[in-house]
Amino acid sequence: MVPFLRILGIETSCDETAAAVVERDAEGRSRILSDVVLSQLDEHSAYGGVVPEIAARAHVEALDELIEQALARANVSLDDVDAIAATSGPGLIGGLLVGLMTGKAIARAAGKPLYAVNHLEGHALTARLTDGLSFPYLMLLVSGGHTQLILVRGVGQYERWGTTIDDALGEAFDKTAKLLGLPYPGGPAVERMARDGNPDRFAFPRPLVGEARLDFSFSGLKTAVRQAAQEIAPLSDQDVADICASFQKAISRTLKDRIGRGLQRFKTEFPLTGEKPALVVAGGVAANLELRGTLQALCDKNGFRFIAPPLSLCTDNAVMIAWAGLERMATGAAPDTLDVQPRSRWPLDSKAETLIGFGKRGAKA
Ligand code: KG4
Ligand code: ZN
Repeated sequence: MVPFLRILGIETSCDETAAAVVERDAEGRSRILSDVVLSQLDEHSAYGGVVPEIAARAHVEALDELIEQALARANVSLDDVDAIAATSGPGLIGGLLVGLMTGKAIARAAGKPLYAVNHLEGHALTARLTDGLSFPYLMLLVSGGHTQLILVRGVGQYERWGTTIDDALGEAFDKTAKLLGLPYPGGPAVERMARDGNPDRFAFPRPLVGEARLDFSFSGLKTAVRQAAQEIAPLSDQDVADICASFQKAISRTLKDRIGRGLQRFKTEFPLTGEKPALVVAGGVAANLELRGTLQALCDKNGFRFIAPPLSLCTDNAVMIAWAGLERMATGAAPDTLDVQPRSRWPLDSKAETLIGFGKRGAKA
């Protein structure tokens, strides 16, 4: 038996305003009672990226109503929730302030505990909500701001095994799209073009392949794409398609090598876990079918389960924040005090060193 818990979650760390209600009953069955997300994509797309001031203002305008919607759809009132969980980092400071202050105000007014949640912890624990996964497992977070391979040992116990030393993977997609004249966000556009392209036309670099460390690097790839595009300009649609396909192939090969090594390390460190080990993927780039295929094949080959939560829970949402708050509360952890501050940088693994260029955008996760 576990305690029955129902949590209201709030997420405002980047360009999605979100609120959700999640519960877990005494038998350990979890349910998403509501999941409301308002994307600000249209407001930022003209600028080719997220504009922090626009994001913060949009959160202020939307959040109150989204929280009301989340409660109404869940058919509960504030009295019926056990705690409020709000993202307090990492991310854009303006947005974090809006969500955390709102969370504090509600917690104070309703007399409920507040959990200030690390956004990355939300991504890391989602697979326990969707798939009932037990610890330990590996998580690959591939989004616009992060590319990290994380060992999830338990609630609050994370070890970063690898991270990008320059651009995040989503950022590499976005920058490549931009220099090819494709729309923002770049990932879906590059994937679409790549379908009709020849992946063998350009031999793009596969940075860090073969190295024992588990880090990633994508800025050289972007530079190689720029050079190739300049050499054959003006670009036909076929040229763009071929570049996109070759770019994706280079990324697939890189991930195969990097993650393959991570799986081996996991098997060495946890040889005796009874269950089949698992790799979980999260973040917007997890939408990419070619990369999913690569990871699935890699997991099959290495005897791992490959777990990709539904896309709406891979990208930014408040369900994962509510869930992370619930997991923390269930461990008996003390709630945060109302003077907790938002943190634009907040590594999951506090012992991991900051790598050059890591989190340059410092915003998205
Ligand atoms: O997790 P997410 O929705 O937002 C944050 O970064 O927080 O991830 C967005 C990133 C963008 O860089 C976008 O280009 C990328 O995910 N993305 C994709 C695809 N769909 C979204 N990248 C590759 N292929 C896709 N199909
Ligand atoms: Zn995220």
